[in-house]
Amino acid sequence: MTDLPEHARRNRALWDVWAQEFITPAEENWASDTPIWGMWGVPESQLGVLPDDLADRDVIELGCGTAYVCAWLARRGACVVGIDVSEAQLATARRLRRQHCLDFPLVHGNAEAVPYPDSSFDVAISEYGVCLWGDPQRWVPEAARLLKPGGQLVFLVNSFLLSLCMPPEEGLAATERLLRPAFGTYRIEWPGDQGIGFYPSHGEWIRLLRRSGFEIEDLIEVLPPKGATTRYPFVTLEWARKWPCEEIWKARKRRDFHP
Ligand SMILES: C[S@@+](CC[C@H](N)C(=O)[O-])C[C@H]1O[C@@H](n2cnc3c(N)ncnc32)[C@H](O)[C@@H]1O
Repeated sequence: MTDLPEHARRNRALWDVWAQEFITPAEENWASDTPIWGMWGVPESQLGVLPDDLADRDVIELGCGTAYVCAWLARRGACVVGIDVSEAQLATARRLRRQHCLDFPLVHGNAEAVPYPDSSFDVAISEYGVCLWGDPQRWVPEAARLLKPGGQLVFLVNSFLLSLCMPPEEGLAATERLLRPAFGTYRIEWPGDQGIGFYPSHGEWIRLLRRSGFEIEDLIEVLPPKGATTRYPFVTLEWARKWPCEEIWKARKRRDFHP
């Protein structure tokens, strides 16, 4: 991976350090067979993120991190592949894959340029993986290339609204005020070397997804249950029960799409 774009190179360096903090939650998620999503651990039964029938479906997780989503998919019968740019995150994923006696490929690479042929997968999924840390103008067309006609793309990211209300300082929660203009959040370089994230507006997502050959099927605004807890400092439960702090996009590759 010598030709990584700047954002991927810098985010990889951070994730190689942050990986240590993600070991305990990874172990908990691998040990559980009940998928939970995002900052608040909202159960799959409330959100319906996963396609109904995963048996024998070819699935790729783009920015799989510790790969607990891969594990949930593999246990549902999917032929799953995880790709991540951080070797340290993949080290946790590989150890837990061994410990839980599962066997699926874990690829070290940039999910904006995946070493698999066109039309390899039925489903592409990303939970705060490349969908947050990668450039959408690179990874969305790449997801479209990887999917078979009619294949499904599902990704979970911070909401656009949250991106407007998050203070730049590390460790502070979203305010009830808009802190930055809505035009210009596409790429945010967080100060203090907290990484480079991508927060397109809804219009930007819609145009990019459609241009890349997708029909948008759903946009789920995540409401955490009463009493939900999170280990992340970015947002309080009070905020998240008034405004969506996370959103899940579901899109399907058009059968008649030829780039
Ligand atoms: C919050 S984790 C999400 C993954 C998984 N849901 C988890 O919690 O373990 C973010 C992951 O995205 C990965 N990532 C960031 N940019 C990437 C890129 N361009 N290609 C592949 N993975 C990337 C990071 O290395 C990190 O492991």
